[in-house]
Amino acid sequence: METRLILFGPPGVGKGTQAKLLAEQFGIPHISTGDILRAGAMAGTELGKKAKALMDEGKLVPDDIMVNLVRETLASPKTAKGFILDGFPRTIGQAKALSAIFKELKITRFQVVNFEVDDEEIIRRLANRLICPKEGKIFNLEFDAVESGGPCPSCGTRLIQREDDKAETVRERLRVYNAATKAVIEYYRQQGVVMTLDGTGTVDVVNREIRMML
Ligand code: AP5
Ligand code: MG
Repeated sequence: METRLILFGPPGVGKGTQAKLLAEQFGIPHISTGDILRAGAMAGTELGKKAKALMDEGKLVPDDIMVNLVRETLASPKTAKGFILDGFPRTIGQAKALSAIFKELKITRFQVVNFEVDDEEIIRRLANRLICPKEGKIFNLEFDAVESGGPCPSCGTRLIQREDDKAETVRERLRVYNAATKAVIEYYRQQGVVMTLDGTGTVDVVNREIRMML
């Protein structure tokens, strides 16, 4: 049976970390709109350049751009056995557009995993996050044996802090989440597809909880 998940929640709640684990565990693709935009920015594509300016300020990229990007990605045969959507939808407009895409693709079954972690812990997690710019792997200074500017444990690339993980940009991202994104969960509650999860446990504990819920 296909596993189709939408991981939902504020920045830094652990969506990317769990999406990568679940993608491996279920053998299905991880579709992170943030990762796609960051890869475009690194490659210097038109979309990447436009998106980077907004991302670095903690603002959302316009709905039409994001919807086209997700429509193309979901139409790929790679998603036939399912997918994990991370970072989309982020506005009611995107959520409605995704419903239309699901209709076009005849997708009727999917679940939304709603992560909850308080703002203080989010700020702490993002202040300590490092990523591998090559593979997008995610680390944390508090519990992974990594250092800023040090090598990625899996490929050796120099680890960096995300541009939008500066304290003032994190505050703006949380503001944008509360103003534009949070309400999307109501859209899905009305469809009866939401599973809410306490995201404060360790990475392994949260992973086990998600798999038990499914
Ligand atoms: P995006 O890349 O999606 O960022 P985000 O939603 O802000 O979420 P993050 O990636 O910051 O957090 P996460 O929940 O993935 O946490 P992670 O697992 O890394 O989007 C970036 C930007 O792109 C947006 O601001 C916007 O500009 C643009 N964009 C993207 N999609 C868009 C869309 N649909 N519409 C418009 N614009 C869009 O974990 C964080 C840290 O915590 C890590 O260090 C990790 O190791 C650690 N951690 C993870 N789990 C745990 C745990 N259980 N316990 C302790 N630490 C943990
Ligand atoms: Mg992420």
